[in-house]
Amino acid sequence: MNPQKVRNGPNFMQQLNKKKHVDCALSSNSDSSDDEVDEIVAIKKDVQKQRFSVSAEAYGQFNKKENFKAKFIPKSKEQSERIKQRMQAGFMFSALNEKEIEIVVGAMEEKIFHKAEYVIKQGEEGNVLYVVDTGELDCFKNYGKGDVFLKTYYPGESFGELALLFQSPRAASIIVKSDKAILWQLDRETFNLIVKEASIKKRQQFETFLENWDLLKEIKDPYDKLKMSDALFEKQYKKGDVILQQGQKSQEIFILEQGRVSVNKDNQKLFELIKLGEYFGDQSIVAGTIESFSYVAEDDMKLMYIPKKSYSSTLKEIESTLMKNIQNKYGKYL
Ligand code: CMP
Repeated sequence: MNPQKVRNGPNFMQQLNKKKHVDCALSSNSDSSDDEVDEIVAIKKDVQKQRFSVSAEAYGQFNKKENFKAKFIPKSKEQSERIKQRMQAGFMFSALNEKEIEIVVGAMEEKIFHKAEYVIKQGEEGNVLYVVDTGELDCFKNYGKGDVFLKTYYPGESFGELALLFQSPRAASIIVKSDKAILWQLDRETFNLIVKEASIKKRQQFETFLENWDLLKEIKDPYDKLKMSDALFEKQYKKGDVILQQGQKSQEIFILEQGRVSVNKDNQKLFELIKLGEYFGDQSIVAGTIESFSYVAEDDMKLMYIPKKSYSSTLKEIESTLMKNIQNKYGKYL
């Protein structure tokens, strides 16, 4: 392993932190200086360089896979099934095949924590990642002026991957909110050899799109954008396929990647979605109604999508914008 790459780790987190401050500065001061803009560009380049180093390291590790003897902690069938269910609920493990899932399940170790206990402390060294089985946990980050609440973790979600991905100190603190929390802990080695590679590949695949997707400009925390790629998938459609039928409840929010999609009401074509990043299927997920339109592929095409179950941990933060956009774009046809 190249020691330079290891040393790059903390840098990445410093850049993330720094970028967050720059973003806050920009949003509170619309007359931001050119210097600040230059700084953001420089940070983005650095972050990209770092990602490349990390992935190169991961591919190097891949060669070791054959000799790798994964940790195995015996568990009941019921426990194994529960872990699998939890892994499927979140998206950290979405890129794994069946064999890899079995290895990861075998390596997981049950850990029980109680109310107000720290599972992770910001700044400390980290060697494991956690998947929430039961309970709720709060995440706080200290940007220099005391802890700021970031989010609550629920069953199926995972945390603690950054220290493993970037060999950096823990970037935030995680504290148990409920009376008790049962977590599944995954060791660094299994994570590095089985999960990390797939996770990095997936994050890189959508990185450029997510950085430039207009819809996300209100999401200031670069970590939240980075994580969104874990919840993105792709599907192919043939010309003429009905992607989503009027009157249905959508199971996905679809995002245009290439090709054209027509928007139809009562079998009449209203208009076409043609631009990268245009999305649909959100009406029934965001507003809880049935879909008012049918969406039909006008070309052989590829769409990205975010499953409904991932909505609350990805786009819910900008729900009011989604609602406003539905009204602006479709209001006159509703
Ligand atoms: P890690 O740095 O290993 O430990 C703390 C964890 O908090 C981190 O990984 C992420 O999984 C999680 N986390 C949640 N939100 C953030 C955030 N905005 N910045 C950094 N880490 C976060």
